[in-house]
Amino acid sequence: MREQKIIKSYSSLAIILAVVSTAVGCRARSPRTSDERATPEQRRVIGAGVPYLPARATDKMALAQNMQLRREKAWDVIRELTKEVPIAHNPGGHGSLPNASASLPLWQTWYTGDELPVMFRSAYEKLTVDQRKIRAPICPEELDSLFEKHAQSPVLGFTPEELEQRLSQVESLEEIRGISGRGVTMFSPGLLRHYFENYVYVLKCEAEQAGLGPQTILSPSNHTPCFASEFPSGLDFPYKLPPSDYSRCKVPSAPGPGINHGAAVALKTSWRKAGAGVVGKFDTDGESLTKHLTEGAWKPNSLIPAQNLKPDAIFSIKLMASANQYNLESIHVVSKETRDWLWITLWWSPEPNLDFGEDRPAAFAGTPWANYKMCVVTDFVEGDLDPASHYTITHPSLARALGASNKWASPNTQCSNPFIEQGQGNAETNCIGCHQHAGTKANPEEIYLNDPENPRTAVSRQLYPNHSRSQVRHNFPGDYLWSFSQGPDYFESEIISTVNNVDHGI
Ligand code: HEC
Repeated sequence: MREQKIIKSYSSLAIILAVVSTAVGCRARSPRTSDERATPEQRRVIGAGVPYLPARATDKMALAQNMQLRREKAWDVIRELTKEVPIAHNPGGHGSLPNASASLPLWQTWYTGDELPVMFRSAYEKLTVDQRKIRAPICPEELDSLFEKHAQSPVLGFTPEELEQRLSQVESLEEIRGISGRGVTMFSPGLLRHYFENYVYVLKCEAEQAGLGPQTILSPSNHTPCFASEFPSGLDFPYKLPPSDYSRCKVPSAPGPGINHGAAVALKTSWRKAGAGVVGKFDTDGESLTKHLTEGAWKPNSLIPAQNLKPDAIFSIKLMASANQYNLESIHVVSKETRDWLWITLWWSPEPNLDFGEDRPAAFAGTPWANYKMCVVTDFVEGDLDPASHYTITHPSLARALGASNKWASPNTQCSNPFIEQGQGNAETNCIGCHQHAGTKANPEEIYLNDPENPRTAVSRQLYPNHSRSQVRHNFPGDYLWSFSQGPDYFESEIISTVNNVDHGI
């Protein structure tokens, strides 16, 4: 009986994987359903998103030239983002959890794409008609309080008693983690704030881009035509519009007192329903990695029955409304600590201490994050003459895996998540090579395409050389974020349509 069940779920995963691997690269997320994504009610329980404030500036050049420094930095970032933070679960006087010391990993307090238009609308609506006519910016002091106010907005569709009743059932660790929902992309407060502050520049983006060739260098400090400045690193002060923009505000010229909402960081997660079906096991030792790269698409080396996974072997959530439990297979992190971002990805593995997990710091022991492997990229080109050399003695399986990656990708970098980068050609990516096109008309699926059977491949390989790992642009309309112009988040369009709707009283 049990055997039959397993066989059945194996074949269903095989079908899912087959469909996924032929159809998509960075997959579109599942439809937005109220129980699976953060809703106002969840925001009310979590409170305002907690900023990520890097301790010190990151030396991009040093990371580019030294794989060990790069990996240590990436683990540090993950350590900070997975740090448990207490959640303000009773902000408005009603709605509290039975567990008074409930906490979430910092990243789980962040915002889903759905929250951006809601927050932007509430700030934009406060401008007078005349201010809107001249496209006055939203003042820093309004942005300072926006996040707290949003967390306290009334919970639509729930009486205080109903909310109380619902929250009283949130007890287990998985249920607490489930409060944050199953949003696929998530955004730090610093990232959202940058959009609100720059809304006038986002509106002008199309016009700014017209006639701009990919090679045009805009300014030494700003590579995007769609924002007055690049996204914040968390160390620079947020008020970065030209001082004249602030003329009607209480803080007339930057810098002044105010809240630092931290670094711009974006996340992309992939979840799989727990308890049923199978989970792919992807081998990433040197030899297996070479094979995956040669094939160009990730295929699981074996399949593990999901019911064999112990709760502490993977990060799991249980959703409030549906009682569905999900396992976190992988998580992409991009952090604007350097101008071209840090590109970090974690993927679950049943052998987490081998190769890309061999150097995981001891501080992760005993946390769910000890079950994940990691790779990181900070540049298009590999600046370390021998990335494997740092680990030959201390972490030999990591050295072999890095050696295989470098041999394949040189002179470029390579880093790809087996659970997310599923398209034909996408195992060979270095993240940044595809993301440089964000905000342009380029189609992400054509960017990684490397399939001899597909007639479009020749054009793609010409436009996006070296398996799309090379730099081919010098200005970046979306500052490397696909959520700027692409689904599921479409932030540029959301801002434009919110402005139009409010201006027309809709
Ligand atoms: C072939 C193109 C491509 C590659 C390769 C790729 N991505 Fe993406 N990525 C996208 C697209 C398209 C989106 C937006 C749609 C979505 O979420 O699926 C996205 C979304 C994201 C997001 C959400 C924020 C945003 O708006 O961009 C993060 C974070 C991210 N990717 C990180 C990574 C990392 C890390 C890697 C490498 C391990 C990577 N991506 C590789 C195309 C790509």
